[in-house]
Amino acid sequence: MASYVLRKTIRRLPGVVIKAVPKPHPEITEGFQARQKTGEICRERGYQSCLIVTDQTLFSLKFHEIIVESLEENGIKAAVFHDIHSEPTVGIVEAGEAAALACGADCVIALGGGSVLDASKMIVSGLRFHHLKAKSLMHKFLYVPHKSLPMISVPSTAGTGAEITVGAVIKKSDEGAKGSTVIVGLNIVHVILDSELTVNAPAGVTAACGIDALSHGLEGVVASVHVPDADMKESMECVRLVLEHLPIVLKTPDCEASRLAMSRAALYGGNAINEQLAGYVHAFAHAIGAQYHIPHGAAIALSLLPVMRYQKEACLSRLAELAVYCGLAEEQAAPETAADNLMDALDSLIQTCDFPDRGAFIPQEDYPLLIKRITDDSINYSAPVVFSRAEISALLDEINGRKENGDVHGD
Ligand SMILES: [Fe+2]
Repeated sequence: MASYVLRKTIRRLPGVVIKAVPKPHPEITEGFQARQKTGEICRERGYQSCLIVTDQTLFSLKFHEIIVESLEENGIKAAVFHDIHSEPTVGIVEAGEAAALACGADCVIALGGGSVLDASKMIVSGLRFHHLKAKSLMHKFLYVPHKSLPMISVPSTAGTGAEITVGAVIKKSDEGAKGSTVIVGLNIVHVILDSELTVNAPAGVTAACGIDALSHGLEGVVASVHVPDADMKESMECVRLVLEHLPIVLKTPDCEASRLAMSRAALYGGNAINEQLAGYVHAFAHAIGAQYHIPHGAAIALSLLPVMRYQKEACLSRLAELAVYCGLAEEQAAPETAADNLMDALDSLIQTCDFPDRGAFIPQEDYPLLIKRITDDSINYSAPVVFSRAEISALLDEINGRKENGDVHGD
């Protein structure tokens, strides 16, 4: 009870804190093979030597080569560091810093998914403290005086929003836990959205990433943080784009226009995380995902509808406004009807994604641990409500009893 009252009292604090963190406002370049323009972008910015950071898969697919050629054509030195794997450690970050120092990099180009982007954020920040071990920089907040080295994000997935978010998740050792750091002074100068990178993503990855992006926009729209209209519009546009274009890319994977729209949605979702934080959909997904090794997007798909429906009354007018924005209700519609239309559209979208049915996967004995983790995690967010332990338990029941396609067992 004491913890519930405390959480209710401090629930607006994360929103106040995140407002004080300066956010990157990168220029955007987009299109099929848009990364061909990297050299031109870097020449105009006056860079002379760039380190491309990528992972082994993208490296073996030679996706970095267009960037190398483009840099060299513009008279810029290029080096490649391709040792990032799915859960980057501080050791990898230090190796990346060494590669950047060895080539005298004045810019890092991050080509990849969330892991590459997050590792690159720590590399460009760590270079300002290269006499220190990367591990010693893994605090809740990392203040980088005079900004980090410039970074250009070239995301290879449309989901995490890591191409623009100020947070980085890195493991403190091979066996150690992941740590999340908010970087104050992160200097992301440009984002290149290249549909060639996402066009061949498997349907499962496309769906999971798309639902993740949608959840960032959605949790932003209902967040308790007050933001300027432009940020709220981006969060709403994120949801609208995913509702419209995710079904298209699942049916027609090579539709370049819709692939780009999904990349834009992910970027707007990243802005939502930066400005409005996330909420209980993420708190549930993190706890369930970590405990049962469920990928983030699939875990989001499990928690999204139960959580949003449960907190619907607390954010009815925002949901109604979003429904109208997405063309799911008339402006004159009753808020309850508009919000229900939105919930139905989300339900139908998740069904389209065809995530596997997990059945009842949460043993009763795990509930206390999950409730604690969800409660602890939720303190970092800006949800419109504060759930009691009993409410979290009831929602776990619903998630546990429901199929990922939106049906409830016993209904
Ligand atoms: Fe997410």
